[in-house]
Amino acid sequence: MIETQLWRVDPEAADLENDPQIKAAAKCLSDGEIVAFPTETVYGLGGNAKFNDSVRKIYEAKGRPSDNPLIVHIATMEQVREICTEINPLAKKLMDTFWPGPLTIILPSRGEVSDAMTAGLSTVSVRMPSHPVARALILASGLPIAAPSANTSGHPSPTQADHVLHDLYGKIAGIVDGGETGVGVESTVIDATTTPMTILRPGGISREQLEEVIGPVADDPGLTRPDQAPKAPGMKYKHYAPEATMYLVPAGKTRIQELVAHEKNSDRRVGVLTTEENKKDFPQADVVLTCGRRSEPESVAHNLFAVLRNFDSQDVDVIYSETFAETGIGQAIMNRLSKAAAGRVIE
Ligand code: TXA
Ligand code: MG
Repeated sequence: MIETQLWRVDPEAADLENDPQIKAAAKCLSDGEIVAFPTETVYGLGGNAKFNDSVRKIYEAKGRPSDNPLIVHIATMEQVREICTEINPLAKKLMDTFWPGPLTIILPSRGEVSDAMTAGLSTVSVRMPSHPVARALILASGLPIAAPSANTSGHPSPTQADHVLHDLYGKIAGIVDGGETGVGVESTVIDATTTPMTILRPGGISREQLEEVIGPVADDPGLTRPDQAPKAPGMKYKHYAPEATMYLVPAGKTRIQELVAHEKNSDRRVGVLTTEENKKDFPQADVVLTCGRRSEPESVAHNLFAVLRNFDSQDVDVIYSETFAETGIGQAIMNRLSKAAAGRVIE
């Protein structure tokens, strides 16, 4: 056990880079320690990307397999040029349009960051977060910051400092608490070394938004085909799953009502993952949790991981979940839900 410090920071405060709490957290980072901090997507667990020991601490605290590379978080274009050998014109266009923001871009690496961080690959994934606390921390430390999501490997990503405390208390030097994150699902990961570029993980920036700027992009076939390994090593692992057995029910409300009614003949306790619009329609279920408004998919993304975590503190054995259209942020929502359900679907 190590002592985990808690720094509370108001993301709207002026001159965050010189805030004493941010400076204390930045000092930990430059001393080689690892620190969790909010980004606009989820909380990240940061360490000096150039220092093997810091990177090793990250893998160890999360229990993360060492073949799963980390994202480098930077705050300036100068830092990107230090890390990548070349930024092709389309990648530059993406940076100009979506940075700072929830887009991670894979480029050829200069070998400047730790080999442990890139898991020995010749590419490196780079992201410039827009969250003021993340930006201030990166600038105050003066370092490129390696940061995966700040959860125990396999758990839903943390969208609140409490989630980080739950998973990593006693294992990391500190947490910068900047309140709830905004987007709620992780950044989109796009491989800029292929033509056309390939989405390796759907996330905060939708396919439609990307295509508006650079034209057609491909989906990594490994995202949906069980016989093909995903190109982002992290996408092959079991992830986000609540303790109860979860099923997706694309047919929707009426079908879920039937399934819940049927469970009344079993001794299993049944949960329903639904939306504000439908929450009153499952009186027979033992636990009904909502993840936002169906009419506002952004609200679903924002709440999704907290709801999945919440099911673990409820006494349920099985969860039936509504599904969402795979357009816009819906592609990321459905990717996370299918993983949480380990691919189980009931027609
Ligand atoms: O929103 C986010 O991206 C959050 C916040 C903290 O920034 N970070 C995050 O990191 O989700 P992580 O480590 O949980 O997910 C990174 C994903 C993994 O699936 C990893 O395999 C993939 O990106 N990845 C990283 N570098 C890669 C590379 N060079 N080639 C292919 N995939 C890569
Ligand atoms: Mg993660």
